[in-house]
Amino acid sequence: MKITMTVNGRPCSGEVEGRTLLVQFLRDIQGLTGTHVGCDTSQCGACTVHVDGRQVKSCTMFAAEAEGAEVTTIEGMANADGSLSVIQQAFQDHHGLQCGFCTPGMVMAAAALLKDNPRPSEAEVRAHLEGNLCRCTGYHNIVKAILAASGQAVAVAAE
Ligand code: FES
Ligand code: FES
Repeated sequence: MKITMTVNGRPCSGEVEGRTLLVQFLRDIQGLTGTHVGCDTSQCGACTVHVDGRQVKSCTMFAAEAEGAEVTTIEGMANADGSLSVIQQAFQDHHGLQCGFCTPGMVMAAAALLKDNPRPSEAEVRAHLEGNLCRCTGYHNIVKAILAASGQAVAVAAE
């Protein structure tokens, strides 16, 4: 079947099967490989995107279910001039990544959190990230980055 949705502000369509997952549509058909697949059990959150403004693990949704939706992926998170968004810059400034595999999902989760809760506590950040796993165990700096992106003072990571 043919499906159409808006991805990062651009109309996108493609032929999918009923069983095609949204993450497969984004990566394999649209070539948006910034959305990662880190598990096959819906647990890691590396595939997190926004669908109609809601945080979704794109491996848990069929592509056809996103017909007509507004989807945002990590490729849509930079500023219009190509510079890093506040959240992305904070991840860089606070060393919120090691191998970077979980980072797209972490950034998308962070953006969803800050949209609903612009000044979260550390506990709220940690609770929100429960569905996102970092195998490099970089949670401390990820949390710092998100707090910094919310405008709260945190110590700058040592160079
Ligand atoms: S790939 Fe979707 S949760 Fe792991
Ligand atoms: S930075 Fe490596 S998995 Fe998180």
